[in-house]
Amino acid sequence: MKLLILYGSTEGQTRKIARFIADRIQAKGIMVDVVDAASVKPDFCLPLADAIIVAASVHLGSYQSAIQHLVTANRDVLQAIPTAFLSVSLAAAGDADDLQDVKACAERFVSVTGWMPGRIEHVAGAFRYTEYDFFKRWIMKVIARQHGQPTDASQDYELTDWLALELFADEFIGQLEA
Ligand SMILES: Cc1cc2nc3c(=O)[nH]c(=O)nc-3n(C[C@H](O)[C@H](O)[C@H](O)COP(=O)(O)O)c2cc1C
Repeated sequence: MKLLILYGSTEGQTRKIARFIADRIQAKGIMVDVVDAASVKPDFCLPLADAIIVAASVHLGSYQSAIQHLVTANRDVLQAIPTAFLSVSLAAAGDADDLQDVKACAERFVSVTGWMPGRIEHVAGAFRYTEYDFFKRWIMKVIARQHGQPTDASQDYELTDWLALELFADEFIGQLEA
């Protein structure tokens, strides 16, 4: 069996999540290719795989445009095999209204790309203050304050639930093997 993980990441948390899942799956003896959407051309054809996980993060209500283009261009391949979409955001760690907002982002993504993932997981991301420029840092501190999250910008804060990701990876592989 061979898996592909295609990801888009602006500040690096989704990259970390993609590699974490790849490590978990590789530890079971399964081959995994990890592709950064930003490192390939827009007409890139996804390599053959038995299943594909796409991961992307939300910025101002949208996912990375490179992911959107690649998923749209490779929709037929994605529709033909088991898939999952990991939507990484801060809203995933918020209340029911926040979650509703980010679910709407994922629905828009499905509607724009025409790809219906086998499953959609909402994964909490991180405040990566050390990666932000002045303006982003200021905005993110305002958002953090509004949501009772840390505002000390001298360090990053991960809200990602790594145990939940392990369970996701195990379940996804379990279903493929069943
Ligand atoms: C400029 C900016 C805009 C963001 N917009 C949203 C948003 O609209 N909704 C949300 O839930 N999270 C938002 N986030 C949080 C990111 O989704 C979160 O930090 C995620 O971990 C980023 O993943 P990445 O490091 O892989 O890019 C935003 C973050 C930044 C820096």
